[in-house]
Amino acid sequence: MRHTRIIVTHYGGPDTIQVVEEECPEPKHGEVRVRVLAAGVSLPDGLAREGVHPETPRVPYTPGWDLLGIVDQIGEGVSGFELGQTVAAMPISGCYAQYVCLPQRKFVPVPAGLDPAEAVAVVLNYITAYQMLDRSAKVKPGQRVLIHGASGGVGTAFLQLGRLAGVEMYGTCSAQAAEDNSLCFPASQPYS
Ligand SMILES: NC(=O)c1ccc[n+]([C@@H]2O[C@H](COP(=O)([O-])OP(=O)(O)OC[C@H]3O[C@@H](n4cnc5c(N)ncnc54)[C@H](OP(=O)(O)O)[C@@H]3O)[C@@H](O)[C@H]2O)c1
Repeated sequence: MRHTRIIVTHYGGPDTIQVVEEECPEPKHGEVRVRVLAAGVSLPDGLAREGVHPETPRVPYTPGWDLLGIVDQIGEGVSGFELGQTVAAMPISGCYAQYVCLPQRKFVPVPAGLDPAEAVAVVLNYITAYQMLDRSAKVKPGQRVLIHGASGGVGTAFLQLGRLAGVEMYGTCSAQAAEDNSLCFPASQPYS
């Protein structure tokens, strides 16, 4: 079976992206193969493609920080996964592909029936925001937090998770972004 994936052969702008067709990867011992339903497209993906992100892979590589997919093949020695199961992973690269093989420990189960594009948005953005709110800032209900870049992927996650944690959330962004997101965070009002 053949599949397609994106490769970046040298760092630069979007024109460095190429599509290649090749044989589908086979899962090795301890690996699970997924059919990718959605891959996140984030600012770090673009920074890596330009070669300026701290975790930039060496070229040639396949971009794509995070994915949501369906378990399609299970390698020897794997337990706890079923064909057809919905899973998510955040391997940092490699997700812009139709099929991806990863060690089973890289996957987490995802409830079936979610919209793949909506669900994949949770993986990098919300994990990042959750770790910063909970592990780094250790926010407490009733506190006030100001988020710069609040209209972005991580910023939006901050606003939503902070509100769930009982925190009074404030954010800054461009006037255009505030207008585009006016339903999410009304101008000049705390997001609480
Ligand atoms: N450590 C981690 O695990 C991790 C994970 C994910 C992301 N990140 C980092 O988090 C940051 C945000 O990522 P993201 O995915 O949320 O990006 P994004 O969706 O592209 O959002 C970028 C945000 O930055 C704002 N912005 C852009 N240029 C600006 C400027 N010159 N001055 C002020 N604000 C500006 C944008 O505001 P407007 O729309 O108002 O212009 C927008 O709110 C990036 O630095 C990314 O590398 C870190």
